[in-house]
Amino acid sequence: MVELFRLWTFIMVAHLFVHTAEITTTNVVTLNENKRTDVKVADVQCTDGTNMVLTGTISPTSFCTFCFVVEPTDVGTGAYKVNFYPSVADLTFSQVPEYDITLTCTDLANSSNVATEVLEIRITPNSAPIFADGLTHQEAISGTKDKVAGDTLFRVSASDPNSDEIFYTLTRTDPASDNFQIGLTDGMVSAVNDLNTQCTQEIDLYITITDGNIEVGPQVIDVTLQDSNEVPVIDTTDDRISLAEDTVLDTSIVTIAFTDDTAGAALTFTTVPVAAEDLFTLDVDELKLASALDYEDTSLRRPLVLFTVEDGGCTSSTFTYTVSVTNVNEAPVIGPEDNVLDVYEGDIQLDPEWTTTDPDFGDDLTYSITASTPTAANFDIDPRSGIISSIVEYDVDQGAMTATVTLTIEVGGH
Ligand SMILES: *[C@@H]1O[C@H](CO)[C@@H](O)[C@H](O)[C@H]1NC(C)=O
Repeated sequence: MVELFRLWTFIMVAHLFVHTAEITTTNVVTLNENKRTDVKVADVQCTDGTNMVLTGTISPTSFCTFCFVVEPTDVGTGAYKVNFYPSVADLTFSQVPEYDITLTCTDLANSSNVATEVLEIRITPNSAPIFADGLTHQEAISGTKDKVAGDTLFRVSASDPNSDEIFYTLTRTDPASDNFQIGLTDGMVSAVNDLNTQCTQEIDLYITITDGNIEVGPQVIDVTLQDSNEVPVIDTTDDRISLAEDTVLDTSIVTIAFTDDTAGAALTFTTVPVAAEDLFTLDVDELKLASALDYEDTSLRRPLVLFTVEDGGCTSSTFTYTVSVTNVNEAPVIGPEDNVLDVYEGDIQLDPEWTTTDPDFGDDLTYSITASTPTAANFDIDPRSGIISSIVEYDVDQGAMTATVTLTIEVGGH
């Protein structure tokens, strides 16, 4: 109470003349319970005394009693004021509908020389803000795809019976989009991004408003997006192909057809697995073979090519195209080549120790003699082992048989 008394007490400059004290002030003030700003609620004028001081007592002495403070306006003329400070506590109509402040001007030179007035502060209950268009509303945006980030679109209209400031919030959109925002205090809906990224023809905006105390909403605004950017559509339906592993490079695999309302919509692709990406190249809308297929590489035997079309704002759904690589019988590679072997005459059994390789896993290798110099067929080859043997007992004495025989041997894989 000492603190309170100090706040409420101011001493006027002394006057030499003694007159009857008088007080002039407003008698009734109304304050909305939602009041959030400092405000002067009344002027008080003490007159006709010496060393006049203004004091006040408030009733009831609960809740917001310290919100009201008597302060001097001009001590020399006895001018005072009563201020309201909402930071101290809230005015709540249901707790205290009225505060009465008894204001007393007292002449310090003569404590009998006093004048009193009662200032009634009537609290009015806060009312909720109101959407001008109700809780469901329709709007239309024209030329949607040409709107750019920052463009204003329309204003949400609301009012407050107590003239409180209204705050607007966009709580969500359906479908979800981060392309829209609302001004916190002006209710203006504007574009966050260029609206060529808004790929629907309609969107619902959910708006709430508050006066700082009471929230209202959501108001659901059904927004028609006229002339919005359309999502590209891939029209191709054939979604698979079989390619022999020896398919020549640059072979056309598929041409993807699509439709879109934006000139310059472009096709792109990715692959699963990612490593398959090098197998393909895109020539505008035509997928071509860019590097050799290999059936034996099981990880790339059945790659998926995922196509999308982007028009700078909207992206088509993904079109999945399956490439199945088929096996081709590939020739084994004989080794060693140009083999020179020395053997003794007689019953010859010769293992050239072949190092033949075959790209086709699991193929059976078959050796055969395709030519002989001289042509006399004195040798045979085991097709499985590749072991060369003489058909006759080989004899180089008296020039019966040549000392050198050249055999041409072929290997096949099946
Ligand atoms: C004190 O004030 C009262 C009320 O105005 C007045 O009747 C009285 O004469 C004053 N006394 C003096 C000493 O001025």
